[in-house]
Amino acid sequence: MKLIVTGGAGFIGSSFVRMALNEGWAENVVNVDKLTYAGNLDNLHPIADHPGYNFVQLDICDGPAIDDLFRSESPDAVVHFAAESHVDRSIHSPAPVILTNFNGSFALLEAARLNKVARFVHVSTDEVYGSIEPPHEADETYPLRASSPYSASKAASDLLALSYSTTYKLNVSVTRASNNYGPYQFPEKLIPLMISNAFEDVSLPVYGDGQQVRDWLYVEDHCHAIHAVLEKGDGGEVYNIGGNCSLPNLEVVRRILRATGKGESLIQRVADRPGHDRRYALTSKKLTTKTGWEPRMDFETGLQKTVDWYRANRDWVQRVKTGEYRQFYDLNYTSRQA
Ligand code: NAD
Ligand code: TYD
Repeated sequence: MKLIVTGGAGFIGSSFVRMALNEGWAENVVNVDKLTYAGNLDNLHPIADHPGYNFVQLDICDGPAIDDLFRSESPDAVVHFAAESHVDRSIHSPAPVILTNFNGSFALLEAARLNKVARFVHVSTDEVYGSIEPPHEADETYPLRASSPYSASKAASDLLALSYSTTYKLNVSVTRASNNYGPYQFPEKLIPLMISNAFEDVSLPVYGDGQQVRDWLYVEDHCHAIHAVLEKGDGGEVYNIGGNCSLPNLEVVRRILRATGKGESLIQRVADRPGHDRRYALTSKKLTTKTGWEPRMDFETGLQKTVDWYRANRDWVQRVKTGEYRQFYDLNYTSRQA
C-alpha cells in the first residue's frame, strides 16, 4: 500500500509514519508537511533512510500543488493529520487555524476526489463535541458544540469530509480522538509543557481551578486505532477513539511532579483559558465493535515512558523551543497570572 500522510512531521503524524513503515502497514509513505513551528524532521529520524519513505514540503492549502502531488503519486490512501492543533494559539491567532484546518482539508478532499483515491482517513478530535456534563459521554451521534476556533475548524472540516462521502461517494472516515500524550509532543500542550518545566524548575501553569477533565490516550494507541479505521472502517462513518483514562488536570500535573521528582511548590495557578471546556468524555464502543481495537497503555506506564523520553531528549526540547521555532513558542500564554 502507498500512503500519503499529511502532517507527518508533527507529534501524532510522525508516530504514525514510524509505525506504518516499521510495522509494515504500508510499503510506501509520502509525508506531506509544511514544517510549521510544530513540524520537525528530527521526529522522523528513526525511519528517514527507509527506502519506502519520502518527504514533500508543501502547504496543504495549496490546492493545485496538492492536486499535482496526488496525480503523480497515485496513493492508495490518504491519512490526514496536518493541522494547527493548539487551542491557545487558535484563540490568540485564529486565521492560520481556520485556513489550514478547513481550507487545507478541502484541498486534500478535492484532490482525493479528482484523483479517485480509494480511501481517506480524516483525523479529528473529541473537542468537536464541546464540554460534556457528567455522567454523560459522547458517542458519534452526539451534537457538535465546538467552543474554540480550533475545535470549530475541526468540526467544520469533519462535516466537509462527510459531505464528500455523501455527495461524491469518496470513501472517507472521520476519527475523533481524545487528548494524546507521548514522546515528540511539542512542549505547548499540557503534558510535555509540564514535564519540561519541571525538569527546568520553572513553574507549572495550571489554568483556573485545574479541575477540568481530559481523557488521556497514548499516541501509539491512537495510531493503532487509525490503522484499524484505515483497514476496517466504513466510508461515511465517524469513529471515536478514547483512552479510558479521565483525569482532572491538577491530578495529571501532580503525577508529573512525582514522576520527575519535583515538589508541588512548582504549581502556579494562572488565569483560565477563555471558553475553556470543562470536561471531555467519549465512548469508543463503535470502533471496538467494528475493529476489535482497544487502548492498551495504562496511564501510569505511559506517563513514565513519556517522562523518561523527555528526560533523555532534553536537547530535542531545547531545539524546538529555540531557533526558528522561538517566535511561536514566545506566544507564551503560560506566563499569565491568575
Ligand atoms: P502537531 O501540531 O504536533 O503537528 C501538526 C503537523 O501539521 C506539523 O508537522 C505541521 O508542520 C503540519 N502542518 C500544519 N499546518 C500545515 C499546512 N498548512 N500544510 C502542511 N502541513 C501543515 O499536531 P498533532 O498533535 O500531531 O495533531 C495531529 C492531528 O491530530 C490534528 O489534525 C489534530 O487536530 C488531531 N488530534 C490531536 C490530538 C492531540 O491531543 N494532539 C487529539 C485528537 C486529534
Ligand atoms: P492542551 O494540552 O492544550 O489540550 P486541549 O486544550 O486540546 O485539551 O490542554 C489540556 C488541558 O490542560 C486543558 O484543560 C487546558 C489545560 N492546560 C493548563 O492548565 N495549563 C497549560 O499550560 C496548558 C497548555 C493546558
